[in-house]
Amino acid sequence: MSVPIVRTVAELRRTVADWRADGNRVAVVPTMGALHEGHLSLVRAALAEADRVIVTLFVNPKQFNSAADLAAYPRTEVEDAAKLTPVGAHLLYCPDGGEMYPSGFSTTVSVAGVSEGLCGAFRPGHFDGVSTVVAKLFLQTGADLAFFGEKDYQQLHVVKRLAADIDMPIEVTGCPTIREPDGLALSSRNVRLSPEQRVVAPALARVLFSLADRIASGAPAAPVLADGRAQLLAAGYREVEYLELRSSDDLSPVSDAARPARLLAAAWLGETRLIDNVPVPSGTLSNA
Ligand code: PAJ
Repeated sequence: MSVPIVRTVAELRRTVADWRADGNRVAVVPTMGALHEGHLSLVRAALAEADRVIVTLFVNPKQFNSAADLAAYPRTEVEDAAKLTPVGAHLLYCPDGGEMYPSGFSTTVSVAGVSEGLCGAFRPGHFDGVSTVVAKLFLQTGADLAFFGEKDYQQLHVVKRLAADIDMPIEVTGCPTIREPDGLALSSRNVRLSPEQRVVAPALARVLFSLADRIASGAPAAPVLADGRAQLLAAGYREVEYLELRSSDDLSPVSDAARPARLLAAAWLGETRLIDNVPVPSGTLSNA
């Protein structure tokens, strides 16, 4: 049987109420569709901890910075449903724009602090759009658990902060980034890469992992990051938006790996913006 699809908040709430009446624990995996193995890994993680898993599919206009990017975003609902069925998701929630933002909609949910800098500096309003839709998805589904990818590391921090700050009764779990064999992080935007760009793309992950090793073995971050920018440009990236070392706990800037840190980057390959991040373990300073 294929995964059932609901399109309204009312239908969604009726289904979840029935599940709850039977004592089930409910998880939600928010997505914008064009599903790949990264999304499916979240669904599997959710299935391991919950009795019922809702995948949401909504291409959220409020989080896009350009009309062209929104228009170009892949929309593949039929294929997405077909991918979710064998994995075992219990419900696909696909609201349309009017269901999510009925006329007169006027509220913005905004998380300060962790949403500033990094992607927040280059995509004004993006995290307000994410926070607003995620708050609505949490309230609409009433889920106990939510699963997000570390691929969007700043987003994961924003969502955790949001749920904690306004006492949403939901536990947010981050899951590891799923990569192609050559290291490129899976992304719905990868389909936009030309064959030549696809060859260049894995340089982002390769450079991040090698910089992380150098910083973990005690090299000061600043020159390593400057070298990393140069390597990305030499590999064929057009522009490096940011390449930064941040604390894994709260995303505050750090200059070495004295405590657990994360290396995060955004870079343009032609007209495609790719982001990635890798952990920098602390306490591995070499004595050699
Ligand atoms: P989307 O880009 O579709 O991603 C949905 C979820 O899949 C996010 O939690 C994201 O971090 C995760 N994901 C994407 N690529 C991944 C990969 N390679 N490995 C592991 N997880 C991966 O992120 C959004 O949608 C939206 O901002 C959303 C949260 C749905 C709000 O609109």
